[in-house]
Amino acid sequence: MAVYPCTARESPPRNGVLGQELTISCPKIVILTILGSRFASKPGIFFWKISVHPCTARQCPPQNGVLGRALTILMTGTQVFLVCFDFSKPSVSNTAASPTPDGAGANLLRQEDQMTRNIHAEKIVILDFGSQYTQLIARRIREIGVFCEIVGYEINEEELLAMGADGFILSGGPESVTEDRPPRAPEKVFTSGVPVLGICYGMQTMASQLGGVVEGSSKQEFGYARVTVSKNNDLLRGIADSRVGGESQLDVWMSHGDKVVGLPPGFDGNATTETTEFASISNPAGKLYGVQFHPEVNDTRQGEALLRRFVGDICGCEGLWRAENIIDDIVTNVRERVGTNRVILGLSGGVDSSVVAALLSRAIGDQLTCVFVDNGLLRAGEVEQVVDMLGKGSDNVFSLDIVPVDASDRFLTALAGVTSPEEKRKIIGRTFIDVFDEEAGRLTDVKFLAQGTIYPDVIESAGNKGSKAHVIKSHHNVGGLPEFMKLELIEPLRELFKDEVRKIGVTLGLSQEMVGRHPFPGPGLSVRILGDVKKEYADLLRQADKIFIDELLRAGLYNEVSQAFAVFLPVKAVGVVGDARRYEYVVTLRAVETVDFMTARWAHLPYDFLERVSSRIMNEVAGIARVAYDISSKPPATIEWE
Ligand code: XMP
Repeated sequence: MAVYPCTARESPPRNGVLGQELTISCPKIVILTILGSRFASKPGIFFWKISVHPCTARQCPPQNGVLGRALTILMTGTQVFLVCFDFSKPSVSNTAASPTPDGAGANLLRQEDQMTRNIHAEKIVILDFGSQYTQLIARRIREIGVFCEIVGYEINEEELLAMGADGFILSGGPESVTEDRPPRAPEKVFTSGVPVLGICYGMQTMASQLGGVVEGSSKQEFGYARVTVSKNNDLLRGIADSRVGGESQLDVWMSHGDKVVGLPPGFDGNATTETTEFASISNPAGKLYGVQFHPEVNDTRQGEALLRRFVGDICGCEGLWRAENIIDDIVTNVRERVGTNRVILGLSGGVDSSVVAALLSRAIGDQLTCVFVDNGLLRAGEVEQVVDMLGKGSDNVFSLDIVPVDASDRFLTALAGVTSPEEKRKIIGRTFIDVFDEEAGRLTDVKFLAQGTIYPDVIESAGNKGSKAHVIKSHHNVGGLPEFMKLELIEPLRELFKDEVRKIGVTLGLSQEMVGRHPFPGPGLSVRILGDVKKEYADLLRQADKIFIDELLRAGLYNEVSQAFAVFLPVKAVGVVGDARRYEYVVTLRAVETVDFMTARWAHLPYDFLERVSSRIMNEVAGIARVAYDISSKPPATIEWE
C-alpha cells in the first residue's frame, strides 16, 4: 500500500461521454480517464491494457482527515482493484485486492453499484417535438432514478449521438407527419442500436420515417381509452390494468388525431383500441418501440410501469439518479471547483436558493457567504424563517454566514409612482444588483456567485440543445450577473427539476415545510400589488396573505394546490362594521392547480373554507373591506396578476 498524489479534472467527451481525468503520479498509473461508469486508459499513456473496465465510485471514510472516494475497478480476468483517492488533498492509496475466488467479485460489484456516485453514467435523452408533456416525461424518468436530458428534435445528429444515451424517447408534439416537411428525428436515432421509445407523435414519426404509413383520422381520440394488448412484447409483457378473456387491457390517456395505419418493415402491432389498430408497435430486434398513448401522464395508470420497463429492462439502466448520489456528486464538484476561494449567494427565501445554500454549506462550509436582501416585498416572516433555518443558531445544522440587508426603503423609493409591471420588474432587478454588488464589494476573495437556476429555467431560456422555439422568460430572473462583478457562476441545481430540488433539500435536512413552499416570484409582492407599490399596501397584503396561507395549512389544503396567494387591489369598496360604514381596499385570493405552471386551473377550494378566510381577513386586517376569489384559469389569465 502506498500513497500517491492525485488530481482530477473534467476531460473532453470520448465515445460521447463526458469524462473525468484522473492523474496519479505513480510508476504504474499516469492518467486514467473515467468515462461515465467506464474506465479506460488514455491513448498513448499506458495503464495495464487499453480496454474498458466497469468501475464504480462511492464515498469512503476520511483518510488523513479528508473525505475520500473509493473507486472499484473490475478488470478483465476478474481482478478487482480498489483505489482510494481524494481530490481536495491529492493522495492515493492503492490496495489491490487479489483475484476474487468463487464469484465474490461479482457480489462486491453489486454492493458497490448500490453506492455508486456517478449519477450521469446512465442517461436517457428525450427528443422534444413540442409536446406540452415533454418535461413531464423527463420528470417521470428522473423519478424512476435515471438522469435524462431534453433536446430539440433538430439537434445535430453527431451531437446527439455524442451524448452517449442509453435510450432515446421521442416526445409527442402538435404537428402532423402528414403535413409538408414535418418535424423528423435524426435518422441515426433508429440505427444506432440504442433503444428508442416513440410516444404519440414520436411513434408516428418513427413509423413514417421507417417506411410505415400514417394518416389523419376522422375520429380523433382525446382522453381516456382502453387499450387491448394483442401481441405481447418485451415492453408490454405483464403490464395490465385488467384482463378480459385472457387479454391484457390498459386504461390510458390518448391525445391524437393522426394514426399509424401501415407498419414499417420489421415491426409488429402490439395493441389496439376501438378506433386504432396500432396503439403500440415494436421492432424488438431493432429495439424500437412506440405507443400512441401517453405513459407520462397520471391518467395512464400503468404509465410508470411501462416507462420503468423501457428504461430499466430495455435500456439496461439501474437507477443511479438518487438524492444521496446527486448530493455527493454536487458536493464533490463544488469542492473541486471552488478550492479555497469564497462564494457569495443571494438568498431569496425561496426553495431554490435555500437548497443551494444548504448544499454549499455541506460542500464548503465557511467559504460561503449568503446575502439576504429584504426588498420590503417579501412574505410575512420570511427573513426570520430563513435566518432561523439556515443561519448560525443553536439548533440548526447549517450554520451559514448570512448577511441580512434591509434595503426595503431603497426598493420602495425606487418603485414609487411606477405602475407598469415590466418597469417594476426592471427596477427591482437593477436595485437588487446594486445592493448585492455593494455587499459583495465588502467581502474579499470572492471568486464565485452561486445561483439557484433549475432545469426548467435552462430549458426555457435557450439552453435546450437543438430547440427551435426558444421561449425566453427574462422577467422570471430577477438580477443576473453584472458584467463588472466578474464572478464565475456556480449553479448546482442546473440539472434538477423542482421536485428533485425539494427532495434534495429534505435529504440535506431542510424542513418539509420549508421546501414545500409554493413558488414566490423574484419581484415579490410588487407584482401582487396592482399599480403603484406602497409600504402601506405591502403591509396590508402581507397580513391578508398570511391568513390565507395559515388557513390553507390548517385545513390540509396547502399541498393540494400548487400556488396560493393574495393580491392587493388599490380600489376601495364599501362595507359595514357594526353600525359604521367602512370604505377600504379589496384583496383577491388566488389559488391554482398546475403541473408545470405553464397552464393552470383555478383551484376549486371549498366554499366554507373560503368563507372562513374571507371573514378572518375582513375582521383582522384593518384596511381591507372586501375579499374576492379569482376564478380565472391560465390561459387566458396568468397566475400572477401582473
Ligand atoms: P405567470 O404569472 O407567468 O406565472 O403565469 C407562472 C409562474 O412564474 C412565477 N412568476 C415569476 N417568477 N419572477 C419570478 O421569479 C417573475 O417575474 C415572475 N412572474 C411570474 C409565478 O409566481 C408562477 O409560479
